[in-house]
Amino acid sequence: MASKRGRIDTFIAKQLQIPKKSVRSLIANQQLLLNGDIVITPDTQIDEFSLIECQGEILQQRQRAYWMLYKPQGVVSATVDEQHQTALDLLEGVDKDLLHIAGRLDLNSTGLLLITNDAKWSQALMSPDNKVTKRYLVTLANPIDDTYVEAFAGGMWFEYEGITTQAATLIIVSRYQAIVELKEGKYHQIKRMFGRFNNPVVALHRESIGLIELDNTLQPGEFRALSADEVSLVN
Ligand code: URA
Repeated sequence: MASKRGRIDTFIAKQLQIPKKSVRSLIANQQLLLNGDIVITPDTQIDEFSLIECQGEILQQRQRAYWMLYKPQGVVSATVDEQHQTALDLLEGVDKDLLHIAGRLDLNSTGLLLITNDAKWSQALMSPDNKVTKRYLVTLANPIDDTYVEAFAGGMWFEYEGITTQAATLIIVSRYQAIVELKEGKYHQIKRMFGRFNNPVVALHRESIGLIELDNTLQPGEFRALSADEVSLVN
């Protein structure tokens, strides 16, 4: 989701269904306030979190919201779905306006999902340029060995996308379990990487995104607001 930046005159004209000429006269009469200050020019920039008042009436007021959800299996990482319960359905009692998911997980994957209405923040987390590390605990059907470590680090050719995956870290935890750290998020990436070894993924659990760790006091399906410190870990 893109941040909703734009000009205040465009916003007011659309909101009040009036021509831009009328917006200019509102401005000339000092009847338009942005975050409590009188608006001087029609091209003043606003975003989805700007407090906008016109003739004493609030036209837009929205707080930034940041949630962490322990996604259980069988819940889809989407805002709406005809078939399955969605991650947003689990956020009971929460205002869903503009909420979106910063980094999806497959239907059967579990673990950390970050959900926000702040598009700038989620873009910073998910932009390929920022190479934010996502850490997963992966359980495999067959034993793993050191040859996997090299293959993950060396990158794998993905025919469909026409790319070679970036160097990924694989740490063997036990015969059937590994920690995998990715700096990107291609479709079914981890399953496809283990697929090269004909080794099906039995369970996939995201432990962290960047410096934000899944709160280990949360149970599957539970969520909480991010602390201000956690929010500030993304920039
Ligand atoms: N890779 C996958 O294959 N699935 C996920 O849910 C996340 C990463």
